[in-house]
Amino acid sequence: MGNPFTVSLVCWHDGEPLLKSIREAVFIREQGVPAELEWDGLDEGARHALALSHQGDAIGCGRMFANGHIGRISVLSQWRKQKVGTAIMEALLDYARTHDYKEVDVDAQTYAVPFYRSFGFSEQGKEFLDAGLPHIKMTLKL
Ligand SMILES: CC(C)(COP(=O)(O)OP(=O)(O)OC[C@H]1O[C@@H](n2cnc3c(N)ncnc32)[C@H](O)[C@@H]1OP(=O)(O)O)[C@@H](O)C(=O)NCCC(=O)NCCS
Repeated sequence: MGNPFTVSLVCWHDGEPLLKSIREAVFIREQGVPAELEWDGLDEGARHALALSHQGDAIGCGRMFANGHIGRISVLSQWRKQKVGTAIMEALLDYARTHDYKEVDVDAQTYAVPFYRSFGFSEQGKEFLDAGLPHIKMTLKL
């Protein structure tokens, strides 16, 4: 049986309300990231992955810049551990590979290191705080 969701790549202009609803729930409400840090003005310059349930609800997202920087990977809490995050990452990595990106990177929250390792990312350097949360840079050569 297939997944009970689909992932597509969208631009900010087309996906904004749905992408915002996920990031508000996950980063602002759940993780306490200040709204002014979450909305950093960079979204229009990124490609976004959007996961929709078969009922049409927005359940997860992520973004990637032309320099290979991936971020804001998020899945609504009730949809975690069902490979939605994996499908979002695979959509972004497929795009990067087909567009000849040589390397991608992510500033991973430290608890999520095993998630990014599952795609082959490895940690670089030391932990740091971003929005009060511990992070570490991870990279993947494509
Ligand atoms: C990180 C996140 C995106 C993972 O999404 P998900 O849909 O639950 O992930 P998947 O089901 O695709 O997990 C794939 C693998 O990643 C690893 N993984 C996922 N969540 C994990 C966690 N909380 N802790 C440790 N490993 C984890 C596991 O190896 C998992 O495989 P398994 O289920 O066979 O054990 C999700 O937990 C999330 O939205 N967290 C809040 C936002 C956030 O912190 N984002 C990361 C910013 S850097």
